[in-house]
Parts: sequence; structure tokens; C-alpha cells
Amino acid sequence: MSTLSPSSDPSGAPTVLVTGGAGFIGSHTCVELLAHGYRVVVVDDHSNSSPEALLRIEKTAGRPLHAVHILDMRDAEALAEVFRAHPIDAVVHFAAKKAVGESVQIPLDYYEVNVGATVSLLRVMREHGVERLVFSSSCSIYGDARPVPLDENEPARPTNPYARSKWMCEQVLADTCRAWPELSALALRYFNPVGAHPSGLLGEDPRGVPNNVMPFAMQVAVGRRELLNVFGGDYPTEDGTAVRDYIHVVDVADGHRVALEQLGIRPEADGEPGAATTGLRVLNLGTGVGTSVLELVAAVGRACGQPIPHAIVGRREGDVTRLVADPGAVAAAWGWRTTRTLDDMCADAWRFQQANPMGYGA
Ligand code: UD1
Repeated sequence: MSTLSPSSDPSGAPTVLVTGGAGFIGSHTCVELLAHGYRVVVVDDHSNSSPEALLRIEKTAGRPLHAVHILDMRDAEALAEVFRAHPIDAVVHFAAKKAVGESVQIPLDYYEVNVGATVSLLRVMREHGVERLVFSSSCSIYGDARPVPLDENEPARPTNPYARSKWMCEQVLADTCRAWPELSALALRYFNPVGAHPSGLLGEDPRGVPNNVMPFAMQVAVGRRELLNVFGGDYPTEDGTAVRDYIHVVDVADGHRVALEQLGIRPEADGEPGAATTGLRVLNLGTGVGTSVLELVAAVGRACGQPIPHAIVGRREGDVTRLVADPGAVAAAWGWRTTRTLDDMCADAWRFQQANPMGYGA
């Protein structure tokens, strides 16, 4: 048991707990929050992230993290200790497993880690009276064969355990909000986050063979891999390859900062949580622009100044034809939209890859 007690920040800045803060989206969000004056406490178990990312966050933001706790979030007692040690005003919950293919192989791990950690977090938040939460959800909840663009009213039809675990978490949140009326939660359904911080210090550093197209293409560009396999050339799209809504990770991070403001957690408000509507609100974070795999390959080639060797192969099991966001709800609710283009995403990802050819491990 910890004997630490919460210490108030003399500046009055709100304290935000970022779970999975060393991960790809978590680390970029930490930078945005630090840069805007929040105090940031990170929880991460480094199961799929590097401690180096935490050093890069501080270097990029030019400010230190308030605290870092290495723990497994399913351990509610260890998590409670973090809440006892810091006066947490809000939580941004990223910590989760996220590989679609792996989730089919080891579904119980996905339910245990993704759903279990969310349940444990909500219990500890309730015990400590922390009533503001931003949850990392996914467009994969929508599944296949849907209209484009997709708005939040489309019913969920997840097609794999990863997506189902995210959908379950949203339902856990909805039920918890009903039973705990003071809780204010936002579930942000991201489309395909890619890119890197423009400084080149922070980016995506997958372990092993990358599952996702952008980090794979980057490793081809930097010479770590020979060829990008383009999964499927026979989709009913303009060029036969699947279409996604790629969103710059810094736009995603900025979306989380604005989400906290919308929950009444603002640095300029002397750290006092302001008014926020209670209950769960679900919002898409996407650009509304669809890009095919071949268009992405061409854009990566432009950014690196050399064509990306690629070959069209068979479809990947579980892939869907087209997923593009209708970003209208978040625009209407917050007056917020993404500002970075596909070329920005590729240029920034390439800057990180060139500066860190072996990722954070080098
Ligand atoms: C998936 C999830 C998404 C999740 C993301 C992170 C779905 C529908 N989407 O996105 O929610 O946040 O993973 O892990 O489950 N591709 C290639 N070659 C490659 C890799 C991918 O051609 O080597 C293609 C895929 O077939 C797909 C596109 O590139 O058409 C994007 O794939 P990927 O980057 O893996 O993301 P999603 O599967 O869309």
C-alpha cells in the first residue's frame, strides 16, 4: 500500500492520466497535452511499447511527464495506488491490444486485456470520484458492407475479436454511465491513424513484422524490407485496392486534447473541472477522405523520393473494402476538424523513419 497522498499542482493545471501513454497514439497525445499545459501521468506496461518513447515525449514537448507507472491495468490495486498518488482530474484510456490478426488467434487475451482493463479502470475511477474519461475506440466496430461515409448511427457489426472487444468496452461504458450519472465519457472511434510527429522524434515503432500498411511501407522505403504486399487487387474500388480513411496521428492527438476540453478539463480554468454533459458520447475521428492502398503507396513514394516496390497479392482475411468516416458529428459538436493531409502523414512518417531506421530500438 502506498503512503503517497495527492499533491496539488501550484499552477492549478489539471492532471490527466494517460493509459498506454508510451504507445503510438498515446505518446503523441502526451505531447499535445504537455504542450498545452496539462500535467500528465502515464501508465503503461511496455508490452507493446518502448521506454524510449517516454524520453522522446519529454524531449518533443520540452516539458517533463509528471509521473510514469509501469503496471498492468488489470491489477486494480496497483491502479488504485496511482489514483491515490496523484489528484487525477480525467483519464485518457489507450492501453489495449490492437492487432486484428492476432486477436483471431488469441481472442481471450483480447477480451481479458481490453475489456478487463477498462472494467478495472472504471472501478478505480468510481472509487476515487474521477468522472471524466476519453476512451480509445475504433472504426473497426462498423464492420463491412456499409455506406460511405460512415456516421456514428450506423449499427455496430464488428468482424473480429479486436473490434468486438472495443465494442464491448463501449457497451461497458454506456452501462456504467447509466448506473453512475456523474460520469462523462467520450468514445472516439478512430479510422486509420498514421504519420508521426513533425519533429521526427516520435513515431510508430511496431514490434516484429508490422501488421499495418504504413509502418510496413516505411520499412520498405528505408531498406529494412524488400517489398510491400498489397492485399487484394480485386476490390470493387477505383483501382481494385481497399480504401481507408487515414488520419494524421497528431490530428488524433489534438482530437483527444479537444475532447478533454469538451469534458470541462481545461488548463486555463485553474484546473477546476468545468461543466460537461454526462453520459457516453460516441464520435468518429476521421478525415472523410478515402485513400486506396495504391494511392497510399504512391504518396509514400512521393514523400521518400523513390517508388515503393510492391506487388499485388491475395486479399487478407477479415479485410473490408472501404471504411471512410463521416466527420460531421465531431465538427458540429466541437467545431473541430482534421488539418493534415495524406502528404503530411507520409512526409512526417518518413522523417521519423529516416531519423530512426530501427525505430526506438536503435
Ligand atoms: C485495422 C483495424 C483498425 C485498427 C488498425 C490498427 C479493421 C477493419 N481495422 O485497420 O480498427 O485500428 O487495424 O491495428 O479491423 N495492407 C496491405 N499490405 C500490408 C498491410 C495492409 O495491403 O502489408 C492493406 C490492408 O489490406 C488494408 C489497408 O492496407 O486494405 C490498411 O490496412 P492496415 O494498415 O492493417 O489497417 P486496417 O486493417 O484498415
